[in-house]
Amino acid sequence: MATDNSSLQLEKIIDSADDFLPLLGTDYVELYVGNAKQAAHYYQSAWGFQPLAYAGLETGVKDRVSYVLQQDKIRLVLTSPLEKDGPVNEHINKHGDGVKVVALWVDDATKAYQETTSRGGESYMEPVTQEDEHGKVVMSGIHTYGETVHIFVERGEYNGPFLPGYKEWNPEFRPSSVGLKFIDHMVGNVGWNEMNKWCEFYAKVMGFAQLISFDDNDISTEYTALMSKVMSNGNGRIKFPINEPADGRKKSQIEEYIDFYNGAGVQHIAVATDNIIETVTQLKKRGVEFLYVPDNYYDTVLDRVGEIDEDLAPLQELGILIDRDDEGYLLQLFTKPVLDRPTMFFEIIQRKGAQSFGKGNFKALFEAIEREQESRGTL
Ligand code: FE2
Repeated sequence: MATDNSSLQLEKIIDSADDFLPLLGTDYVELYVGNAKQAAHYYQSAWGFQPLAYAGLETGVKDRVSYVLQQDKIRLVLTSPLEKDGPVNEHINKHGDGVKVVALWVDDATKAYQETTSRGGESYMEPVTQEDEHGKVVMSGIHTYGETVHIFVERGEYNGPFLPGYKEWNPEFRPSSVGLKFIDHMVGNVGWNEMNKWCEFYAKVMGFAQLISFDDNDISTEYTALMSKVMSNGNGRIKFPINEPADGRKKSQIEEYIDFYNGAGVQHIAVATDNIIETVTQLKKRGVEFLYVPDNYYDTVLDRVGEIDEDLAPLQELGILIDRDDEGYLLQLFTKPVLDRPTMFFEIIQRKGAQSFGKGNFKALFEAIEREQESRGTL
């Protein structure tokens, strides 16, 4: 969804990607949660998402309820079961609340299905056409890591609020947006020695190319380590870093995630803003909790990253981290886990030219995460 000239530069980097699967952007992210109604309230009140659509008993759906929220190009679907057994219940029982679907917007969901399943992608949903008075949508899907799936959404002939079966959701309660624009990247945590397998999956089945890799020399502290590779689709709109744990003296944050999630899954959703100071100020005011780095981080940060447009004082006050690469710099900040289990969290990111992921902040950040793990007794 980023259509500035930085994504043009990215296109050059990944000219080796065979784009048999053109992706227009992230269509939506669906979480299976224990109480969709209350989760929706949280994403409205704390995160500034706007009510968009609803499906449930009132729309003829008997087994589940879904609330759809939107902030600029980011769409979240929150789904809870209405019956005692079924796939949503099983997912929640095993994983706690978490991301089930990373839906990708395509021109042709039937072709997306054929291209990916013929390259070894495991089918989750054969192409189906759904229609209502607003037009038609074609959807298909494949499995990815853990129990997470990708659904391809073809919506060129649809002008309803979200998807067929959903009605407009129009409550009076509408806290303002906090300025989130689009999903910058979504990170998956996978098990020991599985990173390369899943990077190959994205390369072979979905035509992605590898942008960057980090090994345990880049990403380690005194105690814990992880490895990471960033996979991107051909036009650079979709970026999926994949993490696996690496050996350290104590349990890494990735292992903690895998233990509590009972397997691989989405670790964080990075959401972009074009004014991180304003966005984070709003989020904090509304109760979103962030990791903090020690104040001494700011003593030397400008020596590392050079000149930046922002004053350092508000960045320090809010705990916003800074990193630089060859193309520019970025500002970023990570929340604490937003669920009961120490699993998924969000990253707030503002790119000022940089196309990387904040490698220079990893050490300070992981030490902050370890302080949290320590308090949970899971380090
Ligand atoms: Fe990230």
